[in-house]
Amino acid sequence: MKELCFSGIQPTNVVHIGNYIGAVKQWADMQHRYPCMFCIVDLHAITVPQDPATLRQNNLRLASTYLACGLDPKRSHIFLQSEVAEHTELAWILGTITKIAELERMTQFKDKSIKRGENVGVGLFTYPALMAADILLYDTTIVPVGEDQLQHLELTRTVARRFNQQFGETFIVPKSLVQETGARIMGLDDPTGKMSKSAKSSLNYIALTDSDEDILKKIKKAVTDSDGIIAYDPLTRPAVSNLMTLFHHATGITMKDLTAQYEGKGYGAFKQDLADALIAMIKPIREKIEHYMSDPASLGKILDAGRDEAKALAEAKMKIVRERVGLGR
Ligand code: AMP
Ligand code: TRP
Repeated sequence: MKELCFSGIQPTNVVHIGNYIGAVKQWADMQHRYPCMFCIVDLHAITVPQDPATLRQNNLRLASTYLACGLDPKRSHIFLQSEVAEHTELAWILGTITKIAELERMTQFKDKSIKRGENVGVGLFTYPALMAADILLYDTTIVPVGEDQLQHLELTRTVARRFNQQFGETFIVPKSLVQETGARIMGLDDPTGKMSKSAKSSLNYIALTDSDEDILKKIKKAVTDSDGIIAYDPLTRPAVSNLMTLFHHATGITMKDLTAQYEGKGYGAFKQDLADALIAMIKPIREKIEHYMSDPASLGKILDAGRDEAKALAEAKMKIVRERVGLGR
């Protein structure tokens, strides 16, 4: 079987170190092993209200962020979801075999709809059918994501199997790929919830566009646990374990070595060194994002090429799907 890796991020608000450590960082490694497609999922973004001009800007900023994080357009196809219309067509078809009860079980839908109250569009509900379409359209075999997306991936697998059963073998049933540590980075101001782009306070996250001063300030203000010990145990020390995970991903130092290194030193020294390590990791990315943003012509060429490659694959697959389902003449 030919391997293919597919993943995506919504162009909303900022890209934070949770997105980087949980997702994009591993994508950059993946592209040396497999053919990869990395999508900017703007159709998913509009499942909650977006300002049109800001959304457009976010699309370009996310494309720049992909490149700045090391995604290489020579190895990977980087493209905008809305520029390949087959995504929406397949989402519609898959929506017809996705059960309402299955969608009602999705925690992301439950969380987001509770926050929005009455103001919930149907798109937020059927969001997983569009995500399944993104993945199945390209015969994807591997989907590297953070932990919060596993439930959507499981539904994608169910829908793929159901379609195959009903209409004949058409889709590959993809596997998810989640890292051992870092698949769920928690909020700096509240380590009981995941770090989130839509958090109320910007103290919740460190964005890849944050200045060195902001990074230091946010780490200094980050919540800690009460016992003052630097040791990894997410259950009893959720705050420090989260900071240790960031440290580990920024430097490669193991949790055991971090504990030994900071024994008896307290949180002050640990936080200063963590901030330095994060600045060293983020600063080059931030500078590259600015570089790519300042050259929209080159960025446009990369997105055009990504779209054309994606479109060719998507068109071929949709011909088969329409035929299997009996659409058209
Ligand atoms: P989103 O921001 O929802 O578009 O998510 C983009 C990618 O980042 C997905 O693969 C998510 O699973 C991942 N992700 C989002 N938040 C976190 C987090 N706090 N920790 C780890 N991964 C995350
Ligand atoms: N729903 C994903 C998220 O919020 C983004 C996404 C859309 C995605 N389509 C995808 C991720 C396909 C992986 C594969 O993070």
